[in-house]
Amino acid sequence: MYPSGFSKKEEKYKMKKKLISLLLTGVMAASLLVGCGSSEAPAAAEPAAAEVVEDAAAAEEVVAETAEATDGVIKVGFAQVGHESDWRTASTKSCQDVFSAANGYDLSFVDCDNDEAAQKEAVRSFIEQGVDYIIIDPIIATGWDTVLTECDDAGIPVIIIDRTVDDSDKYVSWVGSNFLTEGQAAGEWLKAYADAQGISEINALVISGSTGSSAQIGRSDGFKEMADKYGFNILDEQTGDFTEAGGQEVMESYCKSYAGKFNVVVCQNDNEAFGAMTAMDNAGVAYGVGTDVILISFDACTAGLEEVKAGKITADFECNPLAAPFVEEVIKTLQSGGTPDKEVYMVEHWYALPDQIVDFSINGEAQKMTEVTDDVIAAQY
Ligand code: AHR
Repeated sequence: MYPSGFSKKEEKYKMKKKLISLLLTGVMAASLLVGCGSSEAPAAAEPAAAEVVEDAAAAEEVVAETAEATDGVIKVGFAQVGHESDWRTASTKSCQDVFSAANGYDLSFVDCDNDEAAQKEAVRSFIEQGVDYIIIDPIIATGWDTVLTECDDAGIPVIIIDRTVDDSDKYVSWVGSNFLTEGQAAGEWLKAYADAQGISEINALVISGSTGSSAQIGRSDGFKEMADKYGFNILDEQTGDFTEAGGQEVMESYCKSYAGKFNVVVCQNDNEAFGAMTAMDNAGVAYGVGTDVILISFDACTAGLEEVKAGKITADFECNPLAAPFVEEVIKTLQSGGTPDKEVYMVEHWYALPDQIVDFSINGEAQKMTEVTDDVIAAQY
């Protein structure tokens, strides 16, 4: 134990952070001098230089590691869910753009192909590589405490993005969406839209996302809460695994089992909706604006909004995949020795065409829907 009461590892991590902060301060001071042409160094660089590192050997080790880490390069490991959807492609691109070599990062990216064991292995390989930060988008919400403890023991800060970890708090920050709110929004919109259309009975088929992911759990729970509140019938809920093929397969079976019995299809992402559309086209089921079947989707990626514009998807509830810039803010805060927010929520919108835009509230909070136009589609991911 060190005099501070911290373990050797914790002390080393604290020193590392302090030294990185010191070096960054020095770099910033130097660039200010160059940029401003001033001959005075900012006073901020001075006090940290007087800090005493008590264990000389540990300090040398830390200085060596820190020199490596601040050689202009911050090593980041990112264990991504997979490549199952347009949303996922946008999320991956966002991270690769932000954590690029040009921005001073060395990114180890692993596409875990929706395999929970492979995702844990990826995290352990990042620990072995000695990355500076680990980003995880957890495929499922549980089973994380052991590997997150290993990251903690190695002194590597973990940032969770998109989906949540529900059985461990051993991470620095989470940046993502409120999936429960998304599901509630879909249910509240459906009630308001059905009332406006004079539809008195809702018979819904749900194609859910990957079972056990927080995105699936939140959207299912949120929509079910509204179904219970307003008396919608949920005829069935089966997983399409967030894929187009999965959505098509489930909808093909629904078209056979529930022919003529449903008036709402809820797909928990755009790609499932595309698959469901193919299945309904093949089965001769009309859907979307001006038909008897309301099609609800989540994500609101570019291709999803194009289907809203075409009147095929009746309303689309956004899940914003552009978390990486906020993750970078978390890293910058840690680099400068600060404490980032534990939770950062992405801003999201609910999309429809003008005739499908209705007023509704979530837990008493009035919602504003966004009209899908060509400009809105062009600005989307
Ligand atoms: O976790 C976010 C969800 O995962 C998105 O809704 C979906 O498209 C993705 O695969």
